[in-house]
Amino acid sequence: MTSTTKTGAFSHKNLERNVSLLGLCALGAVAIGGIVEIAPLFWIDSTVEKVEGVRPYTPLELTGRNIYIREGCYVCHSQMVRPFRDEVERYGPYSLAAESMYDHPFQWGSKRTGPDLARVGGRYSDEWHRAHLKDPRSVVPESIMPPYAFLAERPVRAGQMSGHLTALSRVGVPYSKEAIKEADTDLMAQADPNTDVAAFQARYPKAQVRDYDGNPAKVTEMDAVVAYLQMLGTLVDHQKAKPFEQPR
Ligand code: HEC
Repeated sequence: MTSTTKTGAFSHKNLERNVSLLGLCALGAVAIGGIVEIAPLFWIDSTVEKVEGVRPYTPLELTGRNIYIREGCYVCHSQMVRPFRDEVERYGPYSLAAESMYDHPFQWGSKRTGPDLARVGGRYSDEWHRAHLKDPRSVVPESIMPPYAFLAERPVRAGQMSGHLTALSRVGVPYSKEAIKEADTDLMAQADPNTDVAAFQARYPKAQVRDYDGNPAKVTEMDAVVAYLQMLGTLVDHQKAKPFEQPR
């Protein structure tokens, strides 16, 4: 201890023995820390760094995502590759904040009865996903995932998409007026390889258009879920968008 801490009015001894003074000083210290942490948030527009390629979900993908939530797929599957070597080697580049910036609610999760799905897009064919969702054990004999064969029977319901997109735009997802107006048409168009996709793809760059469920006669919940799974983690070009080196 130095002589000043022993004798001054503001010495440690005085400070520690005077509860009111200690409380006041602690409050002051915490307040300064709080202001330093919180104040900048009032002056920046977003805490999420923008990353090229990230776009809002198409109506079909959004429907698939809603079904994913409805069926509780999140109970067994996470959607966040953490920046650890084992995760990156197993699942691919770790997740960026921007990749879930349009997720309301986000699907990061922490429970992995099944594998993480953040980068599952493009890993398997549509046929594989259909077979797997109808009967997981037909492609992965040891699987404990429940079957979702009914998805292929249930048609998706158009007529509500504009409402969904409006709600999301209110919480900050940048859907244009046109995207909201055309939402129901876009919903059906993405599952029909015969439609003119130019306008649709202008609204949703890199969106894939095809018959996901292998049944051209109708657009089913299987179309929606497979469309959603096939785009997960595919929007960002990770060679270009490396904010810092991948851990090795
Ligand atoms: C009871 C837990 C459970 C639920 C609920 C569940 N899954 Fe799974 N899922 C698993 C397990 C375990 C695996 C790994 C074995 C396999 O591939 O079937 C898996 C694998 C997968 C895979 C393959 C991932 C990969 O990288 O190989 C996909 C895709 C998938 N599930 C999608 C879904 C979807 C979509 C739903 C909801 C409709 C769902 N799962 C619901 C447990 C579950």
